[in-house]
Amino acid sequence: MHVAVLSIIPDVFEAYLAHGIVHRAIEAGILRVDNHNLRDFTTDRHRTVDDTPYGGGPGMVMKPEPFERAIEQIKADGVETRTIMPTPQGRPFDQVLAEELSREPRRLLFLCGRYEGIDDRVRETYADLEISVGDYVLSGGELAALVIIDAVARLLPGAVGDERSLDDESFSWGILDYPHYTRPPEWKGLGVPDVLLSGNHREIDVWRRREALRRTLKLRPDLLEKAALSDEDLKLLESIKEEEY
Ligand code: ADE
Repeated sequence: MHVAVLSIIPDVFEAYLAHGIVHRAIEAGILRVDNHNLRDFTTDRHRTVDDTPYGGGPGMVMKPEPFERAIEQIKADGVETRTIMPTPQGRPFDQVLAEELSREPRRLLFLCGRYEGIDDRVRETYADLEISVGDYVLSGGELAALVIIDAVARLLPGAVGDERSLDDESFSWGILDYPHYTRPPEWKGLGVPDVLLSGNHREIDVWRRREALRRTLKLRPDLLEKAALSDEDLKLLESIKEEEY
């Protein structure tokens, strides 16, 4: 997967992409991230990227020309590109969209704005897709781009060390995860569910599925409406509802 990011804080990307699964994916050649500094595409001595808003009001707006120069130069290599703009007004980001993007053959170019926003003509001219990572306002698109890149990168074949982690995730697709435990067996007076120490893998699978469904019913019942539930899940849910969950 080929990704390019355009922002005024490339350090943020460099720091995050140097760790964990995304780092390994880059090292393994599964993921490539070109990290561009918007200020490199300014022409004045102060490397200005913003200006006061037409119509007045607080804050600054990012000028269109540095974006234009950067995008035209990045695209000049002829690589087919899908340009994504993280913004609160975009399509809500979720696992379905992450999977869609993980299968995207085109390079994904993320345009990251700061200040009050980017001159809207940049969006109109270049954005193929606008994505929101949640109903709150971040101070820039960088974190949102990283959220998207992270969620997409771990879906790329070979990115997650133990492929069972992804199997496990698709097993619990659309519902919350089950609780996890490791040593010690007792900590602050709290034990670990006996079944997990039993070595009975069939029983462990059923217990995990049940706990995942229980958590979802208690904390995010809205997810159950969309989740792909098997007949066994529906039976488990019925028996959970009979208990106090
Ligand atoms: N930029 C600022 N807030 C954002 C959000 N919630 N999602 C995506 N991009 C953003």
